[in-house]
Order: sequence, then structure tokens, then C-alpha cells
Amino acid sequence: MAGKTTEQTLAELYEETGEQHLAVTLTFNKVPQTILVPSRTLASDAIRHYLRKTGTHVGCEHGVCGACTILLNGEPVRSCLLLAASLHGQDVTTVEGLADPDGTLHPVQQAFVECHGLQCGFCTPGFVTTIAAYLEKNDSPTRAEATEAISGNLCRCTGYQNIKAAVLRAAEIRRERAGLSPLGGDDELAALSLDDKVRGNTAPVGGKGDRT
Ligand code: FES
Ligand code: FES
Repeated sequence: MAGKTTEQTLAELYEETGEQHLAVTLTFNKVPQTILVPSRTLASDAIRHYLRKTGTHVGCEHGVCGACTILLNGEPVRSCLLLAASLHGQDVTTVEGLADPDGTLHPVQQAFVECHGLQCGFCTPGFVTTIAAYLEKNDSPTRAEATEAISGNLCRCTGYQNIKAAVLRAAEIRRERAGLSPLGGDDELAALSLDDKVRGNTAPVGGKGDRT
């Protein structure tokens, strides 16, 4: 016996629940998927409850905290502000889809490990997706740009310093993997900063010398 068509299933769901349902077909973490969801479903809820990937967290549900950030066709978006219906025909990546198929961590994930960017972890997936998208646009950020890159995401534990360091480290890892110098465009700045540190801490014995 032939299986039910999607239309039949949608009609049955309406019969059972009294709610209009939709079939949403998308590429989710590189795999084509179709989900049947009530038409009112938010993208964040569709990802967590229908696609069963719970890395995407829901914090404020107002577009403020960034915990729900996903990549929609490569661009970071707040999934709590989107309806699942708007994912139809789109390419969606969550934090679960960033690592390579062989398990190699995405540069941003690797950098979070190395820089202790991960704390309680609630906000982390949103930071990781945000930074991954940012580095596609700016592969060699300065410290100020790294701060700006994460300014739209909230970490309740205020662990921003390590996350900021992770942005810079992730950029290095990307360059290393591409066979480039890890210092990249920040080379001159890094050299200046090192120079400053060395000279700034070196004073004549007794501290009486004129260092100006
Ligand atoms: S849950 Fe979406 S921005 Fe906070
Ligand atoms: S690590 Fe938990 S809110 Fe930031």
C-alpha cells in the first residue's frame, strides 16, 4: 500500500490538533530534511523540538541575547525571531553542523577549547556561530574588531575576555589551516605590542633612568 502523501498527513494533523501545519523542507547541517510543524512554530523551536538539535539555545526570545543564533545561508540570524516557515528552501547551520564530518572541530570551536571560552555553555553556541560567520567576512580581526564582533551576544557570566581571545585565536587557526602565517594582518600590531611590553617593563636598576 502506498504511503500517505504530505498533504494527507498535514490534513490529519489539522484534524487531530485543530492547528494548521506546514511542511518545511530545508538543508539542515548539510542534510536535506522535511519537518511538519504547526504554522506558528518559531525556527528556534523547530530546530530544538522537531530537528532535535538542542545546541541552539533560547534565552530571551526577543532577539537580544544571541543564544539562538544560527547560520541562515551563512549569515548569522536570531532563530527566535524567525518562523520555521521562513526556513523553507534555505540552508541552515547550527553549532552541531560546524565541525568537519571527520570530527575536526571548527576553528572557532577549537579556539574556545584552547582559550577557555566555554563556561556554562548556555551562550556558547550562539557565540560560536556568530564568530564563525564573522571570520568569513574578516579573517584577520584586531582586538577592537573582535570586541565588536561579539558585542551582539550576551554572556551572563561576563566571560567576554576569553571569548574575545578565542576570536583572535580562531583567526590564527584558520590561517594555520590554510597554510598561512598565523599572525596574518595582525602581525605588525602583535610585534608592536610585544615591543611595548618588553620595553615597558625594562627599567634601569634602581628605576632612576630617564625612559622617555
Ligand atoms: S533567544 Fe534569540 S536572541 Fe535571545
Ligand atoms: S558561558 Fe554561560 S552565559 Fe556565557
